[in-house]
Amino acid sequence: MAAKSPFLLPSIGAYLISSLFLLTFLCGAVKYEPNWNSIDSRPLPAWYDESKIGIFVHWGVFSVPSFSSEWFWYHWKGPQPFSSVVNFMKNNYRPDFTYADFAKDFTVQEGIFDPNHWADIFHASGAKYIVQVTKHHEGFTSWPSNHSFNWNSMDVGPKRDLVGEVAKAVRKYPDLKYGIYHSLFEWFNPIYLQDAQNNFKTQNFVFGKTLPELYELVNTYKPEVVWSDGCNGPDEYWNSTYFLAWLYNDSPVKSTVVTNDRWGRSALCHHGGFLTCHDHYNPGTLQKRKFENAMKLDYKSWGFRRDTTLGEVITIEKLLQNIAQTISCNGNILINVGPTKDGAIAPIYEERLRQMGSWLKVNGEAVYKSRPWTYQNDTVTPNIWYTQRKDLKAVYAFLFEWPDNGFLTMAAPAPTAQTKVTLLGYPQPFTYQSPKHQGMVVKIPVIPYNKMPCKWMWVLKLTALAN
Ligand SMILES: *[C@@H]1O[C@H](CO)[C@@H](O)[C@H](O)[C@H]1NC(C)=O
Ligand SMILES: *[C@@H]1O[C@H](CO)[C@@H](O)[C@H](O)[C@H]1NC(C)=O
Ligand SMILES: *[C@@H]1O[C@H](CO)[C@@H](O)[C@H](O)[C@H]1NC(C)=O
Repeated sequence: MAAKSPFLLPSIGAYLISSLFLLTFLCGAVKYEPNWNSIDSRPLPAWYDESKIGIFVHWGVFSVPSFSSEWFWYHWKGPQPFSSVVNFMKNNYRPDFTYADFAKDFTVQEGIFDPNHWADIFHASGAKYIVQVTKHHEGFTSWPSNHSFNWNSMDVGPKRDLVGEVAKAVRKYPDLKYGIYHSLFEWFNPIYLQDAQNNFKTQNFVFGKTLPELYELVNTYKPEVVWSDGCNGPDEYWNSTYFLAWLYNDSPVKSTVVTNDRWGRSALCHHGGFLTCHDHYNPGTLQKRKFENAMKLDYKSWGFRRDTTLGEVITIEKLLQNIAQTISCNGNILINVGPTKDGAIAPIYEERLRQMGSWLKVNGEAVYKSRPWTYQNDTVTPNIWYTQRKDLKAVYAFLFEWPDNGFLTMAAPAPTAQTKVTLLGYPQPFTYQSPKHQGMVVKIPVIPYNKMPCKWMWVLKLTALAN
């Protein structure tokens, strides 16, 4: 048939090859190999960059003493104990009390813990994804793991699947994604300590605990973020590239999942998905590679503390400024809240999250789906940070202070005859002058307090710029 024509065969061949190529491309059927070159070559699924803001939830047995920080156990029994923690135990508990004894008081009470209420708060905050601590360095799993005998939330304490309950509640909102945090190592796990003592030449902990847990978590809860931590030890010890190759090639979340860089000592800040480098990573300059600024509402602890004072809680102004700086430089921000042992989110944290949401309702256009601009902050006036929306052909200037002398100088934007300046959430455009050299001087009108579109931080939208 077709073979009759000498020209048809090669063209069918070419057609087949090119459509195979197209199929491979369209289905994303690239096979990732267990090495960093290959793992690093995977593009981040677009949802992640567009989301910009996530919420981190630190909740575990450390929420029971709720004193000092989630590192309570380590600061009590580790090699360099904190006297505050040691004294807290001496003064409040019987001498033979162990850390494991705290677990039965991880009550997660009916009538106090309501995962739907959490999801409502998270949704109202304007965040687009959640990362829940499923196992911190203490080793307690907040799901009924088959690999954490008697040290999981079904056997002791809550008697519930906390991961499953939060995941289900969060997913009731189509625009909220669910992710997990998981610690590779455990402070006091004897099998881990033995491996470490063997210079990480044995992998009994990795193959007996860490990896089985990770596979179990991904297969059971299908998280869209896998946020690894506790990466003491070499990448090879954790067998990270093998796990990630499975995650990207064969897991139930292979096309949507994003992950971070905490997959081993030398992966940190170099390999994996987005880079977290260190906690509160907010570099202040444009980063080539996508990063995430993991930070917290309580300056001193990721877990809930009863000893937090008001001055130790971030203000809404500082929180919004952190967001602006982070996204201007190509980052996402992951904002941490620590619920109480009974499952409440304290009103001060609920307030911050709802304040953020109210601000984003007015200014979200400059945040979600934005990209870093040519300039991250202004070259002359301090405390102005920029983003752009390529789809809307607009540049946004985030103002940390309201310019109450009537004028605002911005040196970075180069206006054209068509340039328009508006304040997000405010109906009338602003006028401006463009001095001969460069930049613009915007006239700031007097706006009555009750006509201001928002509080705390303001966003100017600039269109039809020359740069
Ligand atoms: C634990 O093992 C049991 C029995 O094999 C299985 O039914 C259950 O799904 C496992 N749990 C998880 C979280 O994988
Ligand atoms: C990692 O796991 C895979 C699959 O089990 C195995 O083939 C490989 O040898 C392991 N790599 C290391 C470095 O242990
Ligand atoms: C812009 O940000 C950089 C990096 O954070 C800082 O060094 C510089 O002083 C800022 N510029 C102005 C005008 O404040």
